[in-house]
Amino acid sequence: MKLGVCYYPEHWPEDWWVDDARRMADLGLKQVRIGEFAWSRLEPAPGQLTFDWLARALDTLGGAGLEVVLGTPTATPPKWLVDSLPGMLAVDAHGRERGFGSRRHYCFSSEPYRAECARIVTALADRFGTHPAVTAWQTDNEYGCHDTVESYSAGARTAFQAWLTQRYGSVEALNRAWGNVFWSMEYRCFDEIELPAGTVTEASPAHRLAFQRFSSDQVTSFNRLQADIIRPRSPGRDIIHNFMGQFTAFDHFDVGADLDVSSWDSYPLGFLEWFGWPQVVKARFMRQGHPDFTAFHHDLYRATSGGRWQVMELQPGPVNWGAWNPAPLPGMVRAWSWEAFAHGAEVVSYFRWRQAPFAQEQMHAGLLRPDSSEAEAVDEVRAVAAELPLVAGATTAQAPVALMVDYPGIWSTTIQPQGRDFRPLEIILAFYAAARRLGLDVDVVGPQADLTGYAILLLPHLPVWPEGLAARIAAAGCQVVAGPRTGSKTGEHAIPDGLPPEGLKTLADLTVLRVESLRSGWLEPAGPYQVSHWLEHVRTGLPVRAATDSGHPVWIDGGQVQYLACWPCPRLLDDVLRPLAAGLDPLDLPDGLRLRRRGEVRFAVNYAPEPVSLRAHVPGLEHVEWLIGGPELAPAGVAAWRDIRFAQTSPSTSSMP
Ligand code: GAL
Repeated sequence: MKLGVCYYPEHWPEDWWVDDARRMADLGLKQVRIGEFAWSRLEPAPGQLTFDWLARALDTLGGAGLEVVLGTPTATPPKWLVDSLPGMLAVDAHGRERGFGSRRHYCFSSEPYRAECARIVTALADRFGTHPAVTAWQTDNEYGCHDTVESYSAGARTAFQAWLTQRYGSVEALNRAWGNVFWSMEYRCFDEIELPAGTVTEASPAHRLAFQRFSSDQVTSFNRLQADIIRPRSPGRDIIHNFMGQFTAFDHFDVGADLDVSSWDSYPLGFLEWFGWPQVVKARFMRQGHPDFTAFHHDLYRATSGGRWQVMELQPGPVNWGAWNPAPLPGMVRAWSWEAFAHGAEVVSYFRWRQAPFAQEQMHAGLLRPDSSEAEAVDEVRAVAAELPLVAGATTAQAPVALMVDYPGIWSTTIQPQGRDFRPLEIILAFYAAARRLGLDVDVVGPQADLTGYAILLLPHLPVWPEGLAARIAAAGCQVVAGPRTGSKTGEHAIPDGLPPEGLKTLADLTVLRVESLRSGWLEPAGPYQVSHWLEHVRTGLPVRAATDSGHPVWIDGGQVQYLACWPCPRLLDDVLRPLAAGLDPLDLPDGLRLRRRGEVRFAVNYAPEPVSLRAHVPGLEHVEWLIGGPELAPAGVAAWRDIRFAQTSPSTSSMP
């Protein structure tokens, strides 16, 4: 477990670097990420490679004992390059080129741009691949940020047609798969197929889903291009990419397959404003971030590259890009850091070292102020650095609960939500939060995951039933809680033969006859529960545990499978999950208190704006050794403990599979 920071040596006079490096090391930081936007300084004119400053920066940082994650600069192609490569700019859905002057302006499908990326990455990897300070690489920066996964360029059109030819083999097969007889949308050859934009009303959802799959594959192959160049030239170094929060436009499992370590950029306060929480939730957690949002992303990205992950960027103060940008509650930077380590992070790295007094992000806090004095977060970082040895050696173990996430299913629903506010990530978060309220640890798993060892499988949003899932559930013997719309679409965005829920029907007697979406704010009474957003009309011979007052079953008990034919309220989710978790010592945590285990060590973070006593909520604390803090948690408080009985009897914890 290490701390790190993001640093831009090219932003500062060179004679500051030594002092910066020394101060980083003195603060207890071990990792520095640099270089990811520096193309105009690495190659100020075509072919004029000026890498010597970067070599000196690496020597300086390495000389202070810091490990460097070296970024490839491909998120910010410089002006001369853009001007020399017509067609490399991304194009938006309205046909407008996305111009130079910020970042991420390239199109993933531009072959000439890919060649330029290969050239600069090769040159960097040749020069620095075995530099002793370089311990890892970051490919590009935040794929997809600023809505850049899809591009409607001529290059994308050509590449899409080639991709379609590969996927469908014949245009007849494509016409059949997409249902193109509808509205005379049939094609005679692949060359006739346009990108799905500019249509009079909605384009075919199957066409859009194919375009999303294609666009995701372009991100994956763009990343693989860089990974394949770096790997042989930089043996023993990790390849990392920094993913984003609340972002599902490409398949992160696919990109993660080419990485050694996944990382993500955690901005808890910025994300709170972005997400669809009610205003009262946003007000309560304004300075802390939502108690489950960040944790969910830790669990998600831990899954995307087989268990190894980091937080590459953590906000140390107000950011610049939220609708409002409040300061974290005192203590919260420390608390966020511990939440990440509790979920198995190898590194927590802050963004950024020194606040820049110029350009787009001048209002974004750093660990240092623009005048190099220490900003508020530094004392908290110092505290975390001092505490790290107290929990050294704790390894992440498999959680008892798995929650399945499938990106193509999310795209399907986003393309045709059927109810304006049916947002897949929100129902996924609702299930995740229900497990967290019970104090249960969750592993996010991909659609092909082996489920062995899990007691409970949550399927909050799985419209496309993955191949072989029923057999894997049967083999694992786990309890399943499935949400609405399960198995409601084929992979080509059609209603499956024989009505939904495809796949799940083999495990439980369920047929969804009709679905309805409920207008925003509508709460349909269902005994002690309330149903929002979505209601299914289901035929079943199974016991019904809850129904709407108008008689539609919403909680159907199929023994091994619990089916929720609605968007459930928190109380319904609690009532479904609690009995399934009976053997897992479920708790009843108050709003804002959250727990997570890292091996033998259990952590608690208080996100609430009021103090909380663990003694009121967690039994058995009389048998624990406190490693960090104690049972009384102030707002933003953190505690970590080890159960002494458990420590004496349990075998050593295993690593994540
Ligand atoms: C991230 C990005 C950084 C910086 C940061 C500001 O999305 O990777 O380069 O822009 O946000 O919060």
